[in-house]
Amino acid sequence: MDYEAQYEQARQMAEQALKESLLDMGPHQELLQAMRYSLLAGGKRIRPVLVLKFCEALCGSMEPAVDYAVAVEMLHTYSLIHDDLPCMDNDDLRRGKPTCHKVYGECTAVLAGDALQAEAFSRLATSRRTQRVESNGEACAVLAQAAGAIQGICAGQYLDMNGDNQTEERLNLVHSWKTAALLKAACLLGLTASPVAPTMAQWKAAKEYAQGLGMAFQIRDDMLDEESTTQQLGKPVGSDRENGKVTYVTLYGLDSCQELVQRYTHRAKLAVQEAFPDSSEFLCALADALAKRDH
Ligand code: IPE
Ligand code: IPE
Ligand code: MG
Ligand code: MG
Ligand code: MG
Repeated sequence: MDYEAQYEQARQMAEQALKESLLDMGPHQELLQAMRYSLLAGGKRIRPVLVLKFCEALCGSMEPAVDYAVAVEMLHTYSLIHDDLPCMDNDDLRRGKPTCHKVYGECTAVLAGDALQAEAFSRLATSRRTQRVESNGEACAVLAQAAGAIQGICAGQYLDMNGDNQTEERLNLVHSWKTAALLKAACLLGLTASPVAPTMAQWKAAKEYAQGLGMAFQIRDDMLDEESTTQQLGKPVGSDRENGKVTYVTLYGLDSCQELVQRYTHRAKLAVQEAFPDSSEFLCALADALAKRDH
């Protein structure tokens, strides 16, 4: 199967599992509707695809990782709902639709994000698809680190909103924490779900791959905020500039940014070649596709 077909197969598997999650019921069903509204609005599903494909890389099947794939997309969607709030980036469009708070109000949007995060951890803790007894606990720890205040999304988002990010060192931290951390968790969750435990070398390679991929991904995101269109992105362009954000684009300009994207992508590709010989073709093609992405 070629790269596109493989991506599409994994994406559809994730999409189906996401659709089957969160059935609305009870007097508070609007809250569940708000969660589903954002969760099922589309999106590239890169993180769940990474979960599924890293599991497949170890054990030859994506099946054991389906709950973990759903969990990581729930956590990602929570981070997007909160990122768009008026107190953060104050954006009105996400995944081609009005943002959660525009449709349901700020209070419900905050709760929808909170609840998606809780649901993500619940999925990891209770998955019955994994065979190793230690997997679910390890998975919770992996996601908690990526989400949290030490080197995770909350840390990155805090610095993004409040930091003095005029230097490359500082911006590296913001990008590593707000974006690369969750992509790393996605790769590691795939390994954790597998009935075959990964070697130390595979664990390290997955981390290095995700770090390169994550840095390239956020730099590309900063570029698209400058050079794309709202139609193509499904979210407002020029948001960073409007919010006075320091990004790689403001520090280095678009041309140097594309060089940096290539450099980080190259690093990502090198990392997986030995550790995942059967999957490195797909993983390298994914890194290349993300480096050129237009949305
Ligand atoms: C957007 O992530 C947030 C960033 C980390 C840049 P994606 O570009 O993966 O957004 P969706 O999931 O496809 O909507
Ligand atoms: C967001 O970075 C990263 C998150 C943790 C949500 P951005 O604020 O640049 O993401 P977009 O451009 O709104 O998707
Ligand atoms: Mg933001
Ligand atoms: Mg934003
Ligand atoms: Mg952005």
